[in-house]
Amino acid sequence: MFLISAAALKHNTAILRETADAAGCKVVLALKGFSCWKAFPQISPDLDGCCASGLWEAELAREHFQKHVITYSPAYDEADIEALLEFTHHLDFNSLSQWFRFRETIFAHPRFISGELQCGLRINPEHSTGSTPIYDPCVPGSRLGITADQLDGADLIGISGLHFHTLCEQDSPDLESTLKAVDQKFGYLLRNPQFTYLNMGGGHWITKPFYDRELLIRLVKEAREKYKVEVWLEPGEAVAIHTGVLRATVMDVFESAGHRLAILDISATAHMPDVIEMPYRPDVFLVDSFPADNCPDPAVRLEGENYHLAGDSDGPGYVFRLGGPTCLAGDVVGDYRFPRELVQGDILVFDDMAHYTMVKTTTFNGVKHPPIKLLHEDGTIETLREFSYADFRDRLS
Ligand SMILES: Cc1ncc(COP(=O)(O)O)c(C=O)c1O
Repeated sequence: MFLISAAALKHNTAILRETADAAGCKVVLALKGFSCWKAFPQISPDLDGCCASGLWEAELAREHFQKHVITYSPAYDEADIEALLEFTHHLDFNSLSQWFRFRETIFAHPRFISGELQCGLRINPEHSTGSTPIYDPCVPGSRLGITADQLDGADLIGISGLHFHTLCEQDSPDLESTLKAVDQKFGYLLRNPQFTYLNMGGGHWITKPFYDRELLIRLVKEAREKYKVEVWLEPGEAVAIHTGVLRATVMDVFESAGHRLAILDISATAHMPDVIEMPYRPDVFLVDSFPADNCPDPAVRLEGENYHLAGDSDGPGYVFRLGGPTCLAGDVVGDYRFPRELVQGDILVFDDMAHYTMVKTTTFNGVKHPPIKLLHEDGTIETLREFSYADFRDRLS
């Protein structure tokens, strides 16, 4: 099961609210990272709204978050625009060609005329600060955002915001150097009173204990004062990091060519694809004497005499290769060392599985989708969603 902690969500959003208030900016949830809407009541009081990657996430924001909706997509079609004009508050475009294609329709819309809807452009400051190319929108030839030379001399009537998103799991010094690049290349626009908002995207690891929040606060304040704009932050990961676990059961153990293997009832490729795509290695805990109707609280570190953090493959103990129940040979989470041999029926808990995990699950191979549960602050567990054969069957026709 996926188990989300209400307390942990509230812990994160309280930090985000405090930081945004100190900086005088707005902060919204990036739905692409976490869109488990039955948990929205836990987080919406502290946040100003949502950012959506397109029409469907925007619909979710409108229906279940009921606050400010920011929509940015690499491309829209006519039907998207027609629907979005009715309710999104910011509509940000990825290219001038998209903006020119739709601007006449937008100019004629009552929500645009009244100022309820504002439009912006995603810019690409061409300033890379990350280390993983697939998460770097500033790589040469990137399809994400408009470069300074593309904007040169363009007719920007009707545009009131700029939006950049260049960070991924980063600290505020990287934002500082990005803002310098933004100022160098786009500062002349931001200083023009036509521009009223600057969206600094996501990728700010604000809720990590080491994150330099004071610097973020200073940078946001400086930008607000320098450009006289409203500043928006749209973190996804910082909202849901360390708020959920994925609990798995060992279905089988055996040996092959000197490797101990454990087949689990959850799959890397179907239930935590970033383990393969990103790639990364989640922390895994072997849980001894797990009370049947009790769940670990992911709000606190998973420790105690029942919880054994699995190590890497070197050292004393028993190394098992943890894999899923699909046909993909590479459906493997990794090699982990346990204090004892795993046996069928053992329970393993994968830490930090709420963000960018639940949003990416599939039923590839017809694997069973884990139920989604919410641990409330009073200790009760609410089942938000269970999945059945019908969900698998009905998705594709
Ligand atoms: C445009 C945009 N905004 C916000 C985010 C959220 O980023 P994160 O979850 O890293 O904070 C992303 C992530 O890809 C993004 O592309």
